Amino acid sequence: MENGGCVIEVEGLHTRFGNHVVHEDIDLCVYHGEVLGLVGGSGSGKTALMRQMLGLERPTHGSIRVFGQSLYGHNRKQLRAMRNRCGVLFQKGALFSALSVYDNIALPMRELRTLDEDMIRRLVMLKLKMVDIDARHADKMPAELSGGMIKRIALARAMALDPELLLLDEPTAGLDPELSDGFVKLIQTMRTELTLTIVMATHDLDTLVALSDRIAVLADQRMVALGPLKEVINRNHPFIANFFLGERGKRTLANHVDI
Ligand SMILES: Nc1ncnc2c1ncn2[C@@H]1O[C@H](COP(=O)(O)OP(=O)(O)OP(=O)(O)O)[C@@H](O)[C@H]1O
Ligand SMILES: [Mg+2]
Repeated sequence: MENGGCVIEVEGLHTRFGNHVVHEDIDLCVYHGEVLGLVGGSGSGKTALMRQMLGLERPTHGSIRVFGQSLYGHNRKQLRAMRNRCGVLFQKGALFSALSVYDNIALPMRELRTLDEDMIRRLVMLKLKMVDIDARHADKMPAELSGGMIKRIALARAMALDPELLLLDEPTAGLDPELSDGFVKLIQTMRTELTLTIVMATHDLDTLVALSDRIAVLADQRMVALGPLKEVINRNHPFIANFFLGERGKRTLANHVDI
């Protein structure tokens, strides 16, 4: 099973696109049940790393184990079984624009080919309720929805198969502070009701601080810090100084009394 409590284990990971080196020698263990916040400047390779964790892309060197198994020994069927244990909220294209809200959430359930439409209907309604979206929106198309609703429905879809592992890529990007807070509360509630391991990439310091048990910082192609917020902010690195200890960062952190 999972090695030393790591749901995801990354070892010696290097990523290069042509001459462009994105990751250099990244090691990381994502513990069972934790929320790991992933931060780094734009282009630092957060999305690329999350795609690699799902086996959607392969690093240039290094290994990734998910649920205790190497992604690269998997055939398509095994890869699909692994992905069925993961919920994903992508940074881009959160929902399929040609499908209704209902069909977006039903899609992963239908792909399983083991549930009948009655069961799927019940589950879709349950997931909508979980993210606090009224059933009357089920037949709407994504273009008719606000940004906050799209994020919530994308989360409902990510939770469609009751995943053990949730990958969230910029879940609150584009939301106003109130909607971001709502999203944070939703994730917090889900965590109290389910055992979830979460990897979340975000630029949003409020969301990061509210949800993360540990924070991983990508800069200069490397993981320059990994640990609880208190430890990370004490690391001497220009990105960290700028991100956490600039004017905005200081204001956010001041609201968190335990620091
Ligand atoms: N499939 C690809 N082919 C070529 N270059 C890629 C590919 N995927 C990512 N890159 C490059 O790798 C770098 C890291 O991209 P990535 O999207 O992971 O950054 P990010 O940290 O998620 O940024 P942001 O904060 O803007 O979302 C970028 O320079 C990007 O252009
Ligand atoms: Mg990204």
